[in-house]
Amino acid sequence: MGFKTLEWKKGRLYLLDQRKLPLKESFVACATYQEVARAVRDMAVRGAPAIGVAAAFGMLLGARQWKSGTPALLEKHMNQVARALLSTRPTAVNLVWAVERMRAVLIRNVIRGKQALLQALEDEAGKILEEDLRANREMGRQGQILIPDGVSVLTHCNAGALATAGYGTALGVIRAAREAGKRVHVYVDETRPLLQGARLTAWELMKARIPFTLITDSMAGWLMAQGKIHLAITGADRIAANGDVANKIGTYSVALLCRAHRIPFYVAAPISTIDFSTERGEKVPIEQRAPTEVTTLQGRRLAPQRAKAYNPAFDVTPHRFISAIITERGIVQRPFRRNLKKILSGTATENGQIWIG
Ligand code: MRU
Repeated sequence: MGFKTLEWKKGRLYLLDQRKLPLKESFVACATYQEVARAVRDMAVRGAPAIGVAAAFGMLLGARQWKSGTPALLEKHMNQVARALLSTRPTAVNLVWAVERMRAVLIRNVIRGKQALLQALEDEAGKILEEDLRANREMGRQGQILIPDGVSVLTHCNAGALATAGYGTALGVIRAAREAGKRVHVYVDETRPLLQGARLTAWELMKARIPFTLITDSMAGWLMAQGKIHLAITGADRIAANGDVANKIGTYSVALLCRAHRIPFYVAAPISTIDFSTERGEKVPIEQRAPTEVTTLQGRRLAPQRAKAYNPAFDVTPHRFISAIITERGIVQRPFRRNLKKILSGTATENGQIWIG
């Protein structure tokens, strides 16, 4: 891939600064949990799985910042660290998942002394990163079967190596199809307001030498009507128990267009994105971001001064518009509620191509 989205080195978390891409490849070095929280909130790092990995290291940094005191006081301090990290971006469930995993390690090791505790937390954060990387490769291996040779695929936002510990979810499936020798062309939605498609997905595809064409978000329907797009694939920030998918604003429109044109709409996401405590899509908290992201473009004003704007960062695609959900444990088909449960309980974890449905 030629780049690392996140790297833990000598007590610091280095994040490839995605706000600066594609113009500049620079890093944000985080030595405190507050710096990690800021990097997540300001989107130096973004994409649900990458946010989860960053938060895990945020928890580690929070524990390293603890000077001394009773285990009860340490737990209180870590609750504060967790709250600061959790408040950054409410939609990505991987954030909650990673923080809770780290909290469980903390509770198990809190009485073992500081050194042993820090080591256990560092091991766990490293494991979360490695597991995500492995999950993405496996998702690619499983999902590439859905991509026929010679197709054009639409993707929205960035669900690539930049949004994960590496390789990517939706882009990982496309990478894997290419690695399997298939000819694949990608249409990249620019993804207003923050242009993750134009800035990040285009940058990644360029590096991977995967042919692509950048389009504005409003062009996809017309391309589908002309038969130029054969399927769409996106990532997810949270998958509810019934299979509804929260993802970057505009994903719902893509899914509706796919349905209208009888084109498959696939979602690729790791198990850590499935949230059984959220019954259905309407219950997913949708992050609202500053209206200035809509009224401006990279700092330059577009709209009249004082123009009102609305800026939900995510939308929810009802499960009935989703053809299949690709996970590292297999391809989940309808009915999603039953089959997602099956996949979580681990009944489908053997090797090989796995269809759950
Ligand atoms: O606001 P962002 O850039 O964090 O939104 C990212 C997305 O919507 C991705 O599609 C999602 O997190 C999945 S990334 C593998």
